[in-house]
Amino acid sequence: MTSRVTRTQVVIVGAGPAGLLLGQLLQRASIDAIVLERRSAGYVLGRIRAGVLEQGTVQVLEHAGVAERLHAEGIRHDGVEIGFRGRRHRIALHALAGRSVTVYGQTEITRDLMEARAASGAPSVYEAEDVALHDITSGAPRVTYVHEGELHEISCDFVAGCDGYHGVCRSSIPADKLATYERVYPFGWLGVLADVPPPWNELIYANSERGFALASLRSATRVRCYVQCPLEDRVEQWSDARFWDEFRRRMGEGIADAVVNAPSIEKSIAPLRSFVVEPLRYGPLFLAGDAAHIVPPTGAKGLNLAVSDVFYLHEALRDYYRGRSERALDDYSVRCLRRIWRAERFSWWMTRQLHQFPGDAFARKMQETELEYLFESEAAQKSMAENYVGLPLERAT
Ligand code: FAD
Ligand code: DHB
Repeated sequence: MTSRVTRTQVVIVGAGPAGLLLGQLLQRASIDAIVLERRSAGYVLGRIRAGVLEQGTVQVLEHAGVAERLHAEGIRHDGVEIGFRGRRHRIALHALAGRSVTVYGQTEITRDLMEARAASGAPSVYEAEDVALHDITSGAPRVTYVHEGELHEISCDFVAGCDGYHGVCRSSIPADKLATYERVYPFGWLGVLADVPPPWNELIYANSERGFALASLRSATRVRCYVQCPLEDRVEQWSDARFWDEFRRRMGEGIADAVVNAPSIEKSIAPLRSFVVEPLRYGPLFLAGDAAHIVPPTGAKGLNLAVSDVFYLHEALRDYYRGRSERALDDYSVRCLRRIWRAERFSWWMTRQLHQFPGDAFARKMQETELEYLFESEAAQKSMAENYVGLPLERAT
C-alpha cells in the first residue's frame, strides 16, 4: 500500500464532543490540527447520549464560538426532582448553588461543532480505519491510518487522545505507565427517545422499589427517559409497551400517563462504570474525555468533564505555541484529575443513592437514610446542588 505523508501540529483522534471541541478551540488559537474519526459523521450524530450541561460547559462553548443555537434552543433548568416512596422532592439548584443547568443534547453540540469545523475548512477525516500511533516518545511522533483503501501518515508535535473508552490512544500507552481505578455496576440503563411533549418541567430521578428511572427531555416536544435494567438485557427484549409500562410503575402514573403511548425513535442500553486512569499524559500524547475516565451517567457529568479536560488542554497547547512555557502541559494531568475525581465521587454517590442493588439489604437501609436526610437537610441539598450544577473551572494561573 502506498503511503501519503502530511504534517500538522496536533493530531486529534476521535470526533466526539472532546475531539471536535478541541479542534474548534485550537482553530481559534491558530493551531493546526487534523481530526481522525473511525466512524462516519452520520453515525457519530446518530448516537444519543448526554443532555445536561453545566454553566461552565456553556461558557466554554461560548468561548469556542459555537453557542448561538445553544442559546436559542437550550432550556435552562433551575431545579431537579428526586422521586422516592411515591413523593417528589425538589432540589432548588439555582437557589441553593447560584447556578443552573442547561438541557441541550450532545447530538446538537456535536452538530454545531461539525458545522463550525466544516465552515472553517479545518481538516477532518471520517471513516479513518486502523488509526495507529508510532514513535510516541521519540520526539517525532507519527500517526497512520487507512482511508478509502489508502495508507496515510501524519507527523505531528502532539496527539490528543479524544477517542473514548474503547479508543486506541489509551491502549498505546504501556500498561506500567498508567494506574487504573475502576468500579463496574451490576446493571445498565435502557434509554428511550420519543417525540411527545414532556409532562415534567424539570428532570425527575426516581428511586423506586422496582429500580431507578429518569424522566428527562431534549425539547418542548421530545422526551428522553431511562430505566435501570439487568446488564444482560438486550434492546430487542424491550418493546415500547414494556418500556413505558416499567417507566410508569417506577415514576408514578400522574407523571408517566401522558407519554406512555409514544413510539420510540431511539432505544439503547448503556452499562454503568466508574473508571479513571492516571496520569492523562504520556510524552506528547494527552488523553481527554472518555478516553481517560468514565462516570456512571446518574450525575450527568461525562460530557461536562470531557469539555473541562479539553478546555485545559487547549490552554496548555496555546501557551506552548505562544512560546510561553511547557508548564501548563506539565500541569495538565493534575489539573484535570482534581475535577475528575470530584465528578467521580458525585456520580458514584448519586448512583448508590438511586439504584436498586439486588441482595444488599444494608445498602438499601443506607440509601433510605441518606435520602431522608437529603430531603430534610438544607445543608445536604446544598451539597448536592453545588455538585450537580458543576464545580467552577479553574482559571489559568
Ligand atoms: P466519545 O463521545 O465516546 O467520542 C469518542 C470518539 O472517538 C467517537 O466518535 C469514536 O467513534 C471515536 N473513536 C474511537 N476509537 C477510535 C479510533 N481507534 N480511531 C478513530 N476514532 C475513534 N454526560 C453528561 O455530561 N451529561 C449527561 O446527561 C450524560 N448522559 C449520558 C447518557 C448516556 C446513556 C451515556 C451513554 C452517556 C452519557 N453521558 C453524559 C456521557 C457522555 O455522553 C460522554 O462522557 C461523552 O460522549 C464523552 O465524549 P468524548 O468525546 O470523550 O467521547
Ligand atoms: C440525561 C442523561 C443523564 O445521564 C442524566 O443524569 C440526566 C439527563 C439525558 O440524557 O437527558
